[in-house]
Amino acid sequence: MCSIIGYYGNGLAAPILVRGLKRMEYRGYDSVGVATKDKAILLKKGVGKVADVNNLLHLDSLPGSVGIGHTRWATHGSVTDVNAHPHPSSSGQIAIVHNGIIDNYEELKSELQQKGYQFKSQTDSEAIANLLQFNYDQTQDIKKSMIQTVSRLKGHYAFVAMFQDGTLSAARYHEPLIVGVGKRSYFLSSDVLGFIEKTDVAIYLDNGEFVMLNKGGLEIYDFEGRPVKHQTTKVSKEFADAYKGDYAHFTLKEISEQPSTIIRAGESSGDAINSVTDFIKHAKSVYITGSGTSYNAALVAKYLWQKYAKVKVEPIISSELSFSPETVEPNSILIAISQSGESADVLEAVNIARKSNAKIFSIVNILTSSLAQESSLVIGMNCGPEIGVAATKSFTSQLGIIYKITEKLCDGCIKVDSAKISEAVSEVLLDHSKIKHIAKELRDITDIYILGRAVHYPIAAESALKLKELSYIHAEGIPGGELKHGPLALMDSNVYVIIINPGDHTYSDTLTSAREIKARGAKIIGISNKPSDVYDHWIEIPTVDEVFYPLIEIIPIQLLSYYSAIEKNTDPDYPRNLAKSVTVK
Ligand code: AGP
Ligand code: GLU
Repeated sequence: MCSIIGYYGNGLAAPILVRGLKRMEYRGYDSVGVATKDKAILLKKGVGKVADVNNLLHLDSLPGSVGIGHTRWATHGSVTDVNAHPHPSSSGQIAIVHNGIIDNYEELKSELQQKGYQFKSQTDSEAIANLLQFNYDQTQDIKKSMIQTVSRLKGHYAFVAMFQDGTLSAARYHEPLIVGVGKRSYFLSSDVLGFIEKTDVAIYLDNGEFVMLNKGGLEIYDFEGRPVKHQTTKVSKEFADAYKGDYAHFTLKEISEQPSTIIRAGESSGDAINSVTDFIKHAKSVYITGSGTSYNAALVAKYLWQKYAKVKVEPIISSELSFSPETVEPNSILIAISQSGESADVLEAVNIARKSNAKIFSIVNILTSSLAQESSLVIGMNCGPEIGVAATKSFTSQLGIIYKITEKLCDGCIKVDSAKISEAVSEVLLDHSKIKHIAKELRDITDIYILGRAVHYPIAAESALKLKELSYIHAEGIPGGELKHGPLALMDSNVYVIIINPGDHTYSDTLTSAREIKARGAKIIGISNKPSDVYDHWIEIPTVDEVFYPLIEIIPIQLLSYYSAIEKNTDPDYPRNLAKSVTVK
């Protein structure tokens, strides 16, 4: 959820850590802190964004060439300065930064308190600092104290610990941790973005491994203390492109990149799309899972594969599967969709399906992620780093891949002409003025409903998710026909309804719904290639082959959500209370 970083080298650690944290801030952003080793361990931390806290506390002015840093997404304990990381041990001789959750922290805390170790924060993470200190006090040996500490920790975690002698040690267990290898420096980071400006050589640690960095260099061990050898990997250069450039926000940049990311979807995954399609064709049962936006993409797959290829696929909300694991029939296929490849709910769903002997395929953006490693076939979204917390280009890349699978599943009954689709997306992106104007009008609105039938329903659901995250307006996606079964009771002159209504087989029924709504006084925003007097605002989309409307109609709603955030003066890249990859259950 958050980002952790460690630096061991010849340069001044604090400014390097602060830069790394800024680049990873999309992962968690409620508080930030840095600790370095000078004569003693020095530490500064506070609530807020990296730049603001740094302006106030000058985190980057701490001396020393070894250090650790953190941006937090609170799970245990409120968002306060004291709960921000790094956390020192009670003697101040060790400081740690932690990502994840320590399930047994209460037990560890009371055990350590009885032994005289003091706790200052409400976090689970402080238990790691004091447990390490306790084990170090017993052994005076960093390696042994790491082995003993990880043997007691339950939960999901990655942490970096800095010891009084300047040694850094870091452990990984079901949370990401990557070593960056520089010329005369090392980095320990949740994400390659933490060190990409300094080096593109990385070592991806496996679960159950820890590293030690000291004057002797880098050592990697398993949790039993046996040395482990790893190859270094050259990190894709595209990670270095994660800059806003001329755009005001990453979200706008990522929305604007879609004409090219749609074309790249699934490219460079070799034969994976063909192989996955073959397996689907011959499978008894196929399930498709994801969370949030990725689940909405899974719903689109259900409609398309059923309609065009007569293939039944059951979409599963990842976080629900552990409550009904019997859903997955033995020897079936599970396709997991995830931008990050690190969502804990998705990984758990994969785990459950594997128990029923399911084959695991995935559609992911981060090819080095845990999900990619757990899958027997991986289709890469190939859309480059997505920093904005609200998924935009990754959604259309997911759809792009789903369309390519549909084309093969139905033996070419649809033709995915990526260049044409890309052109239509560019057309929608050409002029933002009308959408900006509507966003102004929505500023004080509290409720928006989005209506769509058939394959447009998942787009309505995705639209509602975007509006919630970015504009903080209550929004609900409704299958058109369901209107009269309840939601119509809510329609009055304070309500706005977005009608997703391209000219396909759903058109006239959806237009009728619009009229029913209009008769109750609500305002209508129509997204369609055809005008109508029923729309108070018509957002025109180009006419395309009807199967591809979902890819086009989501674009204006992404823009509307973005400009609503701007109108409300909130940060579209970092919606409150959220994090980019949700690595806790
Ligand atoms: C999307 O805008 C959200 N931020 C969120 O719902 C996201 O799609 C979800 O957490 C799944 O993430 P993943 O694709 O990285 O697994
Ligand atoms: N559980 C820890 C906390 O609440 C770490 C959360 C995180 O990953 O940011 O401080």
